Amino acid sequence: MSMAKKELIYGCMGLGGSWDDTPISSKDIVVAEKAIETALEIGITYFDHADIYSLGKAEQVFGEVLKNNSGLRDRIMVQSKAGICLHQGINGSSIYNASKAYLIEQAENILKRLQTDYLDVFMVHRPDPLMNPEEVADAFRILKKAGKVKKFGVSNMSMHQIATIQEYCDEPLVANQIELSLAHSLLIDAGVEVDRINKYDYTGVEGLIEYMQKHNLAIQAYSSLAGGRYTGNASLASKADTHTIVLLNQMAEKYNTTPASILLAWIFKIPGTVQPIIGTTNPERIKSCRDAAQIELSRHDWYNLWISARGERIP
Ligand SMILES: NC(=O)c1ccc[n+]([C@@H]2O[C@H](COP(=O)([O-])OP(=O)(O)OC[C@H]3O[C@@H](n4cnc5c(N)ncnc54)[C@H](OP(=O)(O)O)[C@@H]3O)[C@@H](O)[C@H]2O)c1
Repeated sequence: MSMAKKELIYGCMGLGGSWDDTPISSKDIVVAEKAIETALEIGITYFDHADIYSLGKAEQVFGEVLKNNSGLRDRIMVQSKAGICLHQGINGSSIYNASKAYLIEQAENILKRLQTDYLDVFMVHRPDPLMNPEEVADAFRILKKAGKVKKFGVSNMSMHQIATIQEYCDEPLVANQIELSLAHSLLIDAGVEVDRINKYDYTGVEGLIEYMQKHNLAIQAYSSLAGGRYTGNASLASKADTHTIVLLNQMAEKYNTTPASILLAWIFKIPGTVQPIIGTTNPERIKSCRDAAQIELSRHDWYNLWISARGERIP
């Protein structure tokens, strides 16, 4: 845990317009430019992509913004992911592909769309059951040697999947991107339910946070704002969330900040390198995340938020 670092990442999944093959418009570029500018204003210098976001158009608009803002590329970190082939299975299902050839081909396409020579971080988006870890490591090695990627990571992976890929890599993986928020705290819940693990449909989550801490892998928490469920997005809030929303607002007042910053401070309190990813494209909502890394929630406040959002006491 020697390199523990707390920073927000801006998630670009909402940029680039609709998820279809309509070409990007000048309006899409303006929205992206404003979101990126606002993220920079609140101190964010790390941007997350995936080849599938808006079917490649998120990277495309980002590339346009980079082209129009000379010097910007050198001031920021840009990461992207590949490995999901959207809707390419039957019944509209996605399939996964973490083969060497596919990862290399996608990384090259990503660079073209982003109009940049290199990615700071490249990730395998999801564990592919047909993934050969030696091939993944080989793809990473080739991309690194060509100067196309600086560092590598994974997403949505268990500690065994990470450890298996790591075994063949020349250098340490830097991050695992995974869903983690007050609305989705399974990784944390599982850690205090060690003798009740049959409560969960899926195992593999217990010990993941500790594994990431031990190996200096950043915990990149996606959907960190829970889609606005506690901060004004009425379409997601349920009656059971009322108490949590009240608590968040009380804490926002107590810590002299916004409910969104409290939500993120809750994630930041997890020990280790923690990087919540925010995905709102709305400039005011981006600004509302400004204080998150500076707020140190008390132990009591952290637990009370968790217990309230869980909807049940901890053991
Ligand atoms: N690795 C993975 O598998 C994976 C999966 C999902 C996401 N991600 C990454 O994580 C990033 C964040 O994920 P996310 O977009 O699901 O998370 P989020 O930040 O929790 O939610 C943002 C979404 O909620 C909407 N929203 C509506 N009302 C809101 C409110 N009051 N406050 C905040 N947001 C509100 C936003 O719309 P507006 O834009 O209109 O505000 C936006 O669509 C993505 O951009 C992507 O980079 C990764």
